[in-house]
This record gives sequence, C-alpha cells and structure tokens, in this order.
Amino acid sequence: MLVTGKEILKHAHENGYAVGAFNVNNMEQVQAIIEAAEETQSPVIIQASQGGLKYAGVEYIAGMGKIAAEKASVPVAIHLDHGTDFKQIMACIRNGFTSVMIDGSHHELEENIKITKQIVEMAHAVGVSVEAELGKIGGTEDDISVDEKDATYTDPDEAARFVEETGVDYLAIAVGTAHGPYKGEPKLDFDRIKVIKEKLNMPLVLHGSSGVPEESIKKAVSLGINKINIDTDIRMAFHKAVKEFVSKNPDVYDPRKIVGPARVAMKEVIAEKMRMFGAAGKA
Ligand code: G3H
Ligand code: 13P
Ligand code: ZN
Ligand code: NA
Repeated sequence: MLVTGKEILKHAHENGYAVGAFNVNNMEQVQAIIEAAEETQSPVIIQASQGGLKYAGVEYIAGMGKIAAEKASVPVAIHLDHGTDFKQIMACIRNGFTSVMIDGSHHELEENIKITKQIVEMAHAVGVSVEAELGKIGGTEDDISVDEKDATYTDPDEAARFVEETGVDYLAIAVGTAHGPYKGEPKLDFDRIKVIKEKLNMPLVLHGSSGVPEESIKKAVSLGINKINIDTDIRMAFHKAVKEFVSKNPDVYDPRKIVGPARVAMKEVIAEKMRMFGAAGKA
C-alpha cells in the first residue's frame, strides 16, 4: 500500500528500527525491492535521485512506484532523493511521490533553513513528507580529518534550531558516512548520533550506507537512525550478476536472460539489508 514517508518513519522511530530507502532508475530494481519487502515483511521506501529521474523520467518512476505500492501488502513510500530544484520537487509531488528530500546542505545555515522551509510549507499543504539535510555527507574521495569533523558533521544545536524553524519531518545527518564505495572502513561518530537523537527525538536518516559494516549499521540503528539509504550496494550486485552471466553466456542476447539474474541478486542484497536494519517483520 502507498503511504507517506512520515507514516513509515514515525513507526520506525517509535519502534527502534530503520527502513531501507533504496535508489531506483529501472523496473527490475523496483521489482527487486518489492519482492524483498514482501519476503521479509518490511515497510520500504523506493527513492530516485535527480539523476535517476533524468534517466527514466519522473512519470515512469512515479508510475512504477505507484503500481508496486498498490500491489504490495507492505507499506511503501515513493521518495525524491537529494532534491535541489523547486520545479523538480513540484513535478515529483504532482506525479504522486509521497515524500521529497530538499538537500540544501551545500548552502549556509540561514539559506538552508529558508529553502527547506519553503519546500516544507508547500509539500505539507498537499500531505507530502519532507526530508532535509544538515552537515556535509562525504564523497568517497573525502578523507575527513578530526579537525574537519566539527565543521562538516552535523552540529546538534544547529540541528535543533533547523528542525524547529523548518518543520521538516526527518533529518539526514552527517556522521562519517560517504556516498559510493569506501576505500577503508568508515568510522561513524556514534556519540553524535546519540546526542542528536536525544535533542531532536525524531526520525534520523543515514546516507552513504552502502559499504558500512553490519555492526556499525546495527549500532547506528540502536542509537536512533530510522531511514538508511542504499544505492551503491545494489548497483554492485547488478553489475556482478550481469558480468557473470555475460561472461558465461557471451552469445545470449535476450535482455530478460541477461538482466533477470541481476534482479534476483539485487533482491537478495535488499532483503539482507532489511533484516540488518531491523525492518523485517515490521510491516
Ligand atoms: O545520493 C546519491 C545516490 O547514490 C544517487 O546517485 O546521482 O548517481 O543517481 P546518482
Ligand atoms: P551509497 O552510495 O552508500 O549507497 O549511498 C546512497 C545514498 O545515500 C543515496 O542518497
Ligand atoms: Zn544520499
Ligand atoms: Na557508501
């Protein structure tokens, strides 16, 4: 069933688990997510980045998401990941997304508050939930030093003010994760998660979660993370399965035979994440 992001994440916040938010840009990914969610009985968030929307088209992403959600017995939200453009956010809402992210994290605090507040007012008026971001989530090339931490990681007091002034429904925080694969092992600032959770008492979001070891994920969830974004690990499962199939069957040209095994591989990775996040059985 199709629900808002707020509804899904309120339940996760109150019951101490995290919902997987998986990036999509094609049909097989959407199907893999829903199959994993049904198999593990997990609530789930299907999300698309601006790049994903550019690739597939907002109507296709929304259309596939809505069909998947309607067919599913578990709660499903359709979310815009890292939105920055007002028109694009409007287009997502008009097409039936039930949650949007406004990522103003690259702006100064005042500007981030201003643009986030505008999106919250507009989205809430039509019953759509909003995620915002405070602090800077690393790219893989960033090797953040101890000194840089305080400048780039989410400041708990700023976060409290940000939430109060914007009315955002859930907040993405920078605590040491990075988008893409990791070179070494990521070190999360668990104390910061704990302090922010105590101050905010609301759903918190972890980006860049592919490649984070299981123990760290579980600890982050136990301290208050309720939405966990995964893209890279699904891309890698897709790539590995396609590569294996094509190298073993170089003359098979039917797309269904090539991409079919990748759909199964993606489903397995996604189901494993759902169990790891504590979402299994929570639908
Ligand atoms: O946040 C980043 C996501 O992994 C989306 O990546 O912009 O390549 O679609 P993308
Ligand atoms: P990964 O690249 O670690 O999968 O992060 C995805 C993400 O945060 C999407 O917003
Ligand atoms: Zn992200
Ligand atoms: Na990552």
